[in-house]
Amino acid sequence: ILNALPLFGDTVIQNAANSAVGQAVIQIAAAKGIQTINVVRDRPDFTTLIDRLKAMGASHVIKEETLRRPELKELFKSCPRPKLALNGVGGKSATELLRHVQVGGSIVTYGGMAKQPITVPVSALIFKNIKVQGFWVTQWKRNHSQDEGALRSMLDELCSLICQGKLTAPACSEVGLQDFGTALDKAMQPFTSAKQVLVM
Ligand SMILES: *[C@@H]1O[C@H](CO)[C@@H](O)[C@H](O)[C@H]1NC(C)=O
Repeated sequence: ILNALPLFGDTVIQNAANSAVGQAVIQIAAAKGIQTINVVRDRPDFTTLIDRLKAMGASHVIKEETLRRPELKELFKSCPRPKLALNGVGGKSATELLRHVQVGGSIVTYGGMAKQPITVPVSALIFKNIKVQGFWVTQWKRNHSQDEGALRSMLDELCSLICQGKLTAPACSEVGLQDFGTALDKAMQPFTSAKQVLVM
């Protein structure tokens, strides 16, 4: 994971960019001077979503299908190829991300919403030496259980970004527990941008 760590001026590409993780990645990267290419599924309110993610600090917001289009070459004239791809989806979406990672770069998977395995092109391994890794925060905490400083300093860094107004939680709607049915219905709608929080 350390080898994959992007630094100032590097680029990160991610799918599920409008998810809670995706929104946090956009904001943390922006605070560190890291460019982000944010991939989202096409949807009726795509332009509104672009504006919202850009206001959060996203450098580029593109649709899944744009990953296969020549216009992406244009984008790479102004921004370096990503050193890191963050995958929360799996399946075709992950393979498409992988195609754009720079030589020696990494794809780190933290989720699998599509419930589909990732196909890694042989050329990505032989000619680009792409590293395919996973991340599970529970394991990260176990690894650092003897080292309280690590968790603390990670949380301190995030809290400092929150205090500076650079990191905010994703939008949510608070719903009384008795109206859980309404909350469930809303949560099942496609392309929802707000989390439903049950208030007890
Ligand atoms: C936890 O530690 C193992 C052994 O050092 C390492 O291979 C793994 O990548 C670590 N996992 C995380 C999430 O830090």
